[in-house]
Amino acid sequence: MTPHLTILGLESSCDDTAAAIVRQAEGHTPEILSSIVYGQTELHADFGGVVPEIAARAHAEKLDVAVADALAAAQVTLADLDAVAVTAGPGLIGGVLSGVMCAKGLSAATGLPLVGVNHLAGHALTPRLTDAVAFPYLMLLVSGGHCQYLIARGAEEFTRLGGTIDDAPGEAFDKTARLLGLAQPGGPAVEANAKTGDPKRFRLPRPLLDRPDCNLSFSGLKTAVLRARDQIVAEKGGLTRQDRADLCAGFQQAVADTLTEKTRRAIRLYIGENPVEPVVAVAGGVAANGTIRAALEALCQEAGARFLAPPLALCTDNAAMIAYAGLERFRAGARDGTDLVARPRWPLDKSSPALLGSGKKGAKA
Ligand code: KG4
Ligand code: ZN
Repeated sequence: MTPHLTILGLESSCDDTAAAIVRQAEGHTPEILSSIVYGQTELHADFGGVVPEIAARAHAEKLDVAVADALAAAQVTLADLDAVAVTAGPGLIGGVLSGVMCAKGLSAATGLPLVGVNHLAGHALTPRLTDAVAFPYLMLLVSGGHCQYLIARGAEEFTRLGGTIDDAPGEAFDKTARLLGLAQPGGPAVEANAKTGDPKRFRLPRPLLDRPDCNLSFSGLKTAVLRARDQIVAEKGGLTRQDRADLCAGFQQAVADTLTEKTRRAIRLYIGENPVEPVVAVAGGVAANGTIRAALEALCQEAGARFLAPPLALCTDNAAMIAYAGLERFRAGARDGTDLVARPRWPLDKSSPALLGSGKKGAKA
């Protein structure tokens, strides 16, 4: 039996350069010794989205700084580590390559084993890091780049029940904010404006609810907001503060209603095969939205499932989740060699076909 494992995790698949140290004694709750995240928001601010070349260069410059900071904050040295875990995909390929090369360099220099991690597995295993939940549980990933329902059955065993066929919900929040002249990232701005708005003034669509599956679509909703905005501008020459608030409230309610109804279906499928102590967890930046979170929480209560939403810093991209997912793989005996490849696409559920649409931040699955 291994007394404890201490793992360094690296994450660089999108626009956050992150390094973290996670330790776990077998049979005990894992502990995050440090978690460092360097965002790149200012670098991409002038371009209206993440520029892959700029992101990759920034990761290459910042990764070793993040590693040094994570070791210092955790008060450990490379000699205290058992392995180096790194996001090997899916994501923007230049960024993923930067992380994989950094991890290979560390591994070659120190002799530490290397463990490649699927970024989505990092998100999906977070409830085990934060709340030590047992498999299987239902996971809803909702962020700027992800949107899918997964049954997590094991550290490398996931069943995908459905997901977006076009935009991720965070992407729709960001585009809606842009249409209304609000600040980026759009989610918090739309939520703040929606507080004084009437969600019923505009009749916005709830896409794909007529279909019985767990797939979602958000691009038509965004277009409906665009049309509603243009109609007001054509009639009145511009938007008032109240128009903006009403559009935000209507959009947010449409996303909340759609996610709630599709989650109801996913819960039904999951509980059908796991009726004892069901657990439903969310991750991703959109899970920070009060209206959406409350709707999902109420739904879980009604369905008799425990609802888990990790703290925001562990919902959004971070390296603690990569270190932890690497720890689970390492404990199970997984080791990667210097031939570990960086993958732009890497579906978690190998048996379910990849859907079209990947979110603004690159191909996610
Ligand atoms: O998980 P995340 O930090 O990054 C990835 O996309 O991987 O999620 C960021 C997304 C952005 O699109 C942002 O607008 C959205 O999460 N978001 C929100 C809120 N806070 C962040 N969406 C709705 N309501 C919020 N309060
Ligand atoms: Zn992510």
